[in-house]
Amino acid sequence: MRTQVGIVGAGPAGLMLSHLLHLAGIESIVLECRSRQYIEDRVRAGVLEQGTVDLMIETGVGQRLQREGLRHDGVWFSFGGRRHRIHLAELTGGRAITVYAQQEVVKDLVQSRVEAGGQIVFEVDDLSVHDLDSPLPKIRYAKDGVRHEIVCDFIAGCDGFHGFCRPSVPEGVIQVYERVYPFAWLGILAEAAPTSEELIYTYTERGFALFSMRSPQITRLYLQCTPDENLTEWPDDRVWEELCRRMRTQDGWAPAVGPVIQKGVTGMRSFVIEPMQFGRLFLAGDAAHIVPPTGAKGLNLAISDVRVLSQALEVFYKSGRTDLLDQYSAKCLRRIWKVQRFSWWMTSMLHLFPGADGFDHRRQLAELDYITSSRAGMTSLAENYVGLPLD
Ligand code: FAD
Ligand code: DHB
Repeated sequence: MRTQVGIVGAGPAGLMLSHLLHLAGIESIVLECRSRQYIEDRVRAGVLEQGTVDLMIETGVGQRLQREGLRHDGVWFSFGGRRHRIHLAELTGGRAITVYAQQEVVKDLVQSRVEAGGQIVFEVDDLSVHDLDSPLPKIRYAKDGVRHEIVCDFIAGCDGFHGFCRPSVPEGVIQVYERVYPFAWLGILAEAAPTSEELIYTYTERGFALFSMRSPQITRLYLQCTPDENLTEWPDDRVWEELCRRMRTQDGWAPAVGPVIQKGVTGMRSFVIEPMQFGRLFLAGDAAHIVPPTGAKGLNLAISDVRVLSQALEVFYKSGRTDLLDQYSAKCLRRIWKVQRFSWWMTSMLHLFPGADGFDHRRQLAELDYITSSRAGMTSLAENYVGLPLD
């Protein structure tokens, strides 16, 4: 088999790349180790930056997002028993975030690729990549017990943090920068109508909590827990009791309680590799970087990487120029590090760190007071939260 761009992984990065390349007249094949059903049901992120929303609409995959997505012009920070709103749209010239679940983005992209005749091969086994520093890199895999080889012009490694592409780069080429945090998030989806129309990030002496939603009927909530938290010790009653205790404010606001329909623990890490390219292999999304979820940036970063990559590939196929491909890593990393900084800062401001004392607590409260009362502080938060520009 032969293709122009072989894409490993059908997450947001791989699917959006395939979609953008198709619009530019470039052929690709996407290879995914899971089933279509699995990737369309996988519960993950839920907040889209303005740039991600605009891209989906501009490229024809935003119809359902426009109907069902919940646009939020503001976001709340709760501390000391009080809630404080930051008016995102007013501070950023009308930009906002949109709540629309990651699996819905995945469904829309898969449907669009399938309708356009695009090739996505699900449930591949034993995938490997070869000849990465040659002009014709190859992907080998098995499907239903039969082995295949695809000869490509380029390979895009969009296979997430645990994927196969990053470890295929020879040792010594990639430098890793990493922080692992001493806490995690316990997340639930609940059948309960959201009692706030906008997200609430809460800091308390008992730890962080986050109020979010998926629809007018479904609430999404998170609470800070330990990285090795045992879910059997968190029956639904205990989760609700802890969530309400952290989130209830002096004016009586609290989340509405309802049946829990999903529960899971997400670890927290900051991780970046440099460079994001080796020969004709380009890494994008979680394959190249991880952010702690506090800034809601993981999915959005994956989309901005492939936007840069698709533009560079388009220029290559139109004119033979390789300068944009050569700059791919540097261009992405400049933005990635700003997003890493923001995610690390939000995480540090809002979580309880082991060994923290009264000094830390007061410093965190002062920081929250500052960013919810100073126009400069609020503007800095707002422009990062709705998404920094690509350039
Ligand atoms: P992925 O979405 O990971 O896609 C990679 C794809 O590659 C997967 O479909 C995988 O099955 C496939 N794959 C892997 N290995 C192979 C292989 N060898 N061969 C073929 N296919 C392969 N971000 C937030 O902003 N907020 C959140 O609340 C949040 N929660 C998260 C919860 C979890 C459990 C996880 C794992 C991530 C969460 N994230 C969150 C991060 C966000 O979901 C990711 O940043 C986003 O999915 C990145 O997209 P991606 O396409 O780069 O990678
Ligand atoms: C959600 C996840 C996040 O990481 C975040 O910062 C805000 C909202 C969510 O799943 O809704």
